[in-house]
Amino acid sequence: MVYLSLYNGMRIPGIGLGTWQIRDRSLLSELLGEAYDVGYRLIDTAAAYSNEMGIARAMESNGLHRHEVVLSDKVWNTCRGYEEVQVACKNSLRKLKTDYLDIYLIHWPASPRLHPDWETINGETWRGMEKLLEQGLVRAIGVCNFKVHHLEALKKTYKVKPMINQIEFHPGVQNREIYDYCKAHEIVLQASSPLGNGEILSNEGLMELAREKGKSVAQVALRWEMQKGVAAIPKTANRNRLRENIDLFDFQLSDEEMKRIDKIPYCGGLGIDSDEVTEFG
Ligand SMILES: NC(=O)c1ccc[n+]([C@@H]2O[C@H](COP(=O)([O-])OP(=O)(O)OC[C@H]3O[C@@H](n4cnc5c(N)ncnc54)[C@H](OP(=O)(O)O)[C@@H]3O)[C@@H](O)[C@H]2O)c1
Repeated sequence: MVYLSLYNGMRIPGIGLGTWQIRDRSLLSELLGEAYDVGYRLIDTAAAYSNEMGIARAMESNGLHRHEVVLSDKVWNTCRGYEEVQVACKNSLRKLKTDYLDIYLIHWPASPRLHPDWETINGETWRGMEKLLEQGLVRAIGVCNFKVHHLEALKKTYKVKPMINQIEFHPGVQNREIYDYCKAHEIVLQASSPLGNGEILSNEGLMELAREKGKSVAQVALRWEMQKGVAAIPKTANRNRLRENIDLFDFQLSDEEMKRIDKIPYCGGLGIDSDEVTEFG
């Protein structure tokens, strides 16, 4: 496994398991057990995924101790503000049956379309995140779906810089401006939808490269992300694909192959604009 260092010194696995849309408890139990066996050490969830209790049970049923897994969770859009984020975090801790989270993220910025005072709201939510960090209830704090202007606005009032920005990032959505900004500011980028929710797997350019490398399209996409220095959290509910998505360490992409992927035009984007998002997604 490759690890990425956050600027506070904490190291996070470069590949983790995404769990959006996996709610079935027996499936979660089967997947988490298998994921641990094949080397996954980070589980990405969110209050909005309604699977925190299922994840707690799956850890229990597989005999996984809390310290063996990096748990990453997110506060939902209806819980913005200093007090609200602290209440939300404590609810998530209770559901996950733990007394700390490794990573806690703001799921979406308050959008200018809904909130004329979006800067203040994000600043206050972030102040609550800083408090959680200070109290030791979370080990690292970050954001999701923050564009450069959201990060720049936060900078005006934050005491602690975000450690992670989880954004859609894959060969079809390369988000270069945010990528460059996060690199320059030592904010680790974590790719949500690293396979474009499955949509990029039929891209011709990726398919050709995968054939040449003798690897799957998913492996080529994930390897490209890894070589870009980006963490990724592919989701699969299939045991074979679970293995495939972490089996990335016996091949490399050359500079020329990386550049071929860099040139892939926009495709497979989820199409959610964080300046437009509503409180309900
Ligand atoms: N912060 C945010 O706002 C945000 C937004 C989106 C996602 N996320 C996080 O990122 C995680 C991943 O994103 P995602 O769920 O959108 O999708 P994804 O990981 O980009 O793609 C998942 C899709 O690809 C398929 N798949 C997975 N591995 C495959 C393989 N090796 N070969 C062929 N198909 C494969 C899956 O189907 P099967 O299950 O059938 O394998 C599923 O349909 C989420 O689960 C969530 O934890 C966060």
